[in-house]
Parts: sequence; structure tokens; C-alpha cells
Amino acid sequence: MAVSTANANSREEGRAPLPLTSRHDTWWIRPVVTMIVLGAFVIYSTWRAFVYQDYEVDSYLSPFYAPIIPLNWTIFGYLISPAFYILIFPLSFRLTCYYYRLSYYRAFFWDPPACGVSEPRPKARMKYTGERRFPFILQNLHRFSFYAAAVFVVLLTYDAIASLWHADGFHLNVGTLVLAVNAVLIGLYTFSCHSWRHLIGGKVDCYSCNVMSTTRYGIWKQISYLNARHSWFAWLSLFSVALADMYVWFVSAGILTDFRFF
Ligand code: FES
Repeated sequence: MAVSTANANSREEGRAPLPLTSRHDTWWIRPVVTMIVLGAFVIYSTWRAFVYQDYEVDSYLSPFYAPIIPLNWTIFGYLISPAFYILIFPLSFRLTCYYYRLSYYRAFFWDPPACGVSEPRPKARMKYTGERRFPFILQNLHRFSFYAAAVFVVLLTYDAIASLWHADGFHLNVGTLVLAVNAVLIGLYTFSCHSWRHLIGGKVDCYSCNVMSTTRYGIWKQISYLNARHSWFAWLSLFSVALADMYVWFVSAGILTDFRFF
């Protein structure tokens, strides 16, 4: 009651009231960690895209630069890094992801910051129009960005396999494992997507009516298993894609030696 009065006073005075909650746990840790990790990833990936060097070495290609795009467009005399053409697709997939929306709405907009915690600016909340107006209406493009993301899973898998063929022959190095783990995690993240689950199992009235619907039900159950772990794959694949790029960068710059297994 006392906090509500304080917030009412804050509103009258035009100040943003403090978050309102009766929770006594450390609810703020999750949005703060999310803000730090997502912010660091956006800064790192943007910087790596701008740098446009050390993205390829031996048989390895950084996932930020895959596939190779032979475009040499410039802006004011500066060559546009091909990573920007590529990043549009995986980035739009992540930005519109249902799980990431929950995370970054909480972390960056505090809208609200956690369950059982009110928003710090109720006035802004009153103008909330959901995802029916620009720019948030673009979130509805998620199902289309899924198709592009699925193509990237194929491309990254191809790159991981192709990395076995080095300049001096066929052999397995740490670099191939790094690219392969990244391709697997990106694949798990992509195919645990809610849109994919709906594509497979949605719009079916009867799962047991014919062979096709029974098969779809079987696949839908497998995808549902992955879907329940979607948040894990979202974070693990975010780390793996940054680490895979970092590995290629370090090997290319001579900071790291690519260990050969056989
Ligand atoms: Fe997260 Fe589709 S819901 S990728």
C-alpha cells in the first residue's frame, strides 16, 4: 500500500516510479545478465562485420561470413562488408524469436522486467499497442525468417563438413569440431522453433485419421521435445556462433594453433 502511494505520487510529479513488486528474490539478475550477454553479442558481431578480415583461414570460414558473397558494393567509398548481407537473416530470426522477445522485452524495455514485477513507467504501458503497429508488427515476420534460418543450417553444416579437406589433404582438426558443434547447436535452435512446430503439427483436426496425419503427429512430438528446450538452444547457439567466429579469427591471426587429431 505504501509503495502504491509512492508510485502514485511519482506519477503525479512526472517521475518514473520504481518497479513495484512484493518479490524478495533476486528477480533482477536474469534481465541484467540478459542485457549484458545480448548487448555484448550485438557489439561483438557488429564489430566483426565492420572489421572484414581474419574471417577465413585454411578450410575454415567464419559463420558470420558464410556463405561467401561476391559483392563489392560501397557507401561513400567504403566497401560494405558482406557480413552485413548475411547477418540480416540470422539476426532477424533471433530478433523475432518468441523466446528472445520475452528476454529482451524484459531486459531492455523492462516491459515488465520479470513476473510479478510491475513496469517502472505505467504511462508508457498505457500506450502499448501490442505487436499491431510499426515497428513491433514486424515481429510477425518470424515464420518467414524461419525459412531463411533453415537454409543457413544447411550452409553451416556444409561448411563444417567441407572444412575436413585442408590444403594438405583430408584430416580432422579442432577447427572442424568447433564449426560442427556450432552447426548442430544452430540446427537445434532453428528446429526447436515454435513456428516450425506449428508448421509440422498445426492445422490438423485429426492426428489418427490417416498415415500422413499420424506421421505428422510423430514428428510433432519429437519437435515438441526440442521445443521445450528452445531457450537453452537459443543461448548455447548464441555462444557457439560467436566462439566459432572467434576461433577462425584467432587461427587466422596466428594467435591460436589449430590442433590436428589425425
Ligand atoms: Fe525462437 Fe522461432 S520461436 S526461433
